[in-house]
Amino acid sequence: ALRRAANIHWQHLEVDQAARAGIKGQQPRCLWFTGLSGAGKSTVANLVEKQLLAKGYHTYLLDGDNVRHGLNKDLGFTDEDRVENIRRVAEVARLMTDAGLIVLVSFISPFRAERRMARELFPREQFVEVFVDTPLAVAERRDVKGLYAKARAGQIRNFTGIDSPYEAPEHPELHLDGGSETAEQMAARVLAALQVS
Ligand code: PPS
Repeated sequence: ALRRAANIHWQHLEVDQAARAGIKGQQPRCLWFTGLSGAGKSTVANLVEKQLLAKGYHTYLLDGDNVRHGLNKDLGFTDEDRVENIRRVAEVARLMTDAGLIVLVSFISPFRAERRMARELFPREQFVEVFVDTPLAVAERRDVKGLYAKARAGQIRNFTGIDSPYEAPEHPELHLDGGSETAEQMAARVLAALQVS
């Protein structure tokens, strides 16, 4: 394939990530939440963000449902569109960590290859993959948005866990048990892993 960036040169900038993060007195991070629809990703990410903010950290939460209303409103739920969805949000998260922020990313992000691609954009210590591991049966029983019922009835196609795959992380930095832990317990574990208290 033609490399579109072939004649684009990388511009060296004087102000770097360390300088930007330094004025906030924080370590930039990308907290990457992955899990089925209805697993509790957004609930946990929200709780974590609220507690980080209360401690004075500068954060931003990128949430699938919201980003799909704006930047990614041209994308649906085919495999191809999900790949592009994750590619864009990973790049945005990288820009935001470059700005010095602690970024929380809450997308199903069902494919291992794209999560690996996201991981590779960051220095090792800055990327924290958080697997919100809620069994399909539990997410489907809760069915907070009524989407599983619609998917089972054939009204939504390509629904994750029903007729579109979810590839569970093999080596996440954090493995949360969404079937038995409360959102508050899961949030506490994320904060503990970040070593902010
Ligand atoms: S992905 O796979 O990462 O591109 O998905 P994401 O951007 O996180 O969007 C998931 C939310 O979109 C709603 N929704 C669907 N999810 C899965 N499959 C299909 N076909 C689908 N259609 C709509 C759903 O509300 C997801 O929200 P969460 O918060 O994950 O439950």
